[in-house]
Amino acid sequence: AEQNRELRERLEQLKKERNAIILAHYYQRDEIQEVADFRGDSFLLAQKAAQTDAEVIVFCGVHFMGESAKILAPDKTVLIPDERAGCPMADMVNVDGLRKLKAQHPNATVVTYINSSAEVKAETDICCTSSNAIKVVNSVLTDEVIWVPDKNLGHYVQQHTDKKMIIWEGYCNTHDMLTVKDIEEMKAQHPNAIVAVHPECRPEVVAMADFVGSTTAIIKFCRESEHKEFIIGTEDGTGYQLRKDSPDKIFHFASKYLVCPNMKVNNLKKLVKCLENMHPQVYVPPHIADKARLSLERMLQVK
Ligand code: 13P
Ligand code: SF4
Repeated sequence: AEQNRELRERLEQLKKERNAIILAHYYQRDEIQEVADFRGDSFLLAQKAAQTDAEVIVFCGVHFMGESAKILAPDKTVLIPDERAGCPMADMVNVDGLRKLKAQHPNATVVTYINSSAEVKAETDICCTSSNAIKVVNSVLTDEVIWVPDKNLGHYVQQHTDKKMIIWEGYCNTHDMLTVKDIEEMKAQHPNAIVAVHPECRPEVVAMADFVGSTTAIIKFCRESEHKEFIIGTEDGTGYQLRKDSPDKIFHFASKYLVCPNMKVNNLKKLVKCLENMHPQVYVPPHIADKARLSLERMLQVK
């Protein structure tokens, strides 16, 4: 606790010296969420990165999030606490694979989940996050959509659109681990609880939920709901904001495996150190960033 207090003081000092803001995803460790200027889901944090006046953005999340921030704010320095915090789902699609699919479906619009590399975004017409995926797919002008990389989110969107979706076979290791049996067991133990899950979960799990949405949507739903007890099907870091917003409500995470090891690579010590050293910085080659930016900006404009 003493060490954390010193780290937090040093962080405050460095933030002023460097004119920095700290953005943290809801899956980050509590010790990071506590010191963040903004906590949010992928969409909100991308928006904050695009809008900030600060000179330095410290992005506490996984690599594609830092990249998206750098693409949207190319003149800012974007720092990340640890370069090794990646997203296995983002690595499940590459440029070659996507180009092949585009050649097979030349009339399709490419809609790419923000959980993807800058190179893949550069081959994309429009990005989306879990909070706006349905809206984005319904906004495109073609009848056919190439969807990468999350098959589970793709399946969920397909239930809410008439577009013909060609869906890539990627998935989030963490959310995809949650099973029907996990939900059944939790419901048996907590019969009064409402089930809220992330659309990165398997279709059969999503079908059992009372509410489906992004992390921000789940947090808002639980805060505003008149119910008092919830079974949560998303990463356990979300508990920080859920409990902060509703200290009198009860939250059960649907499985003990709902922990993204990549998100947990970051900690307070590394956060302070990266601002101290101004390293590691996110770099995206300008010819990639310029193309990728269009796909992100199109997403930000969808109403
Ligand atoms: P959201 O924050 O958009 O809900 O995304 C979830 C996720 O898995 C991020 O890596
Ligand atoms: Fe990637 Fe899943 Fe971790 Fe999000 S929770 S960073 S999608 S592995």
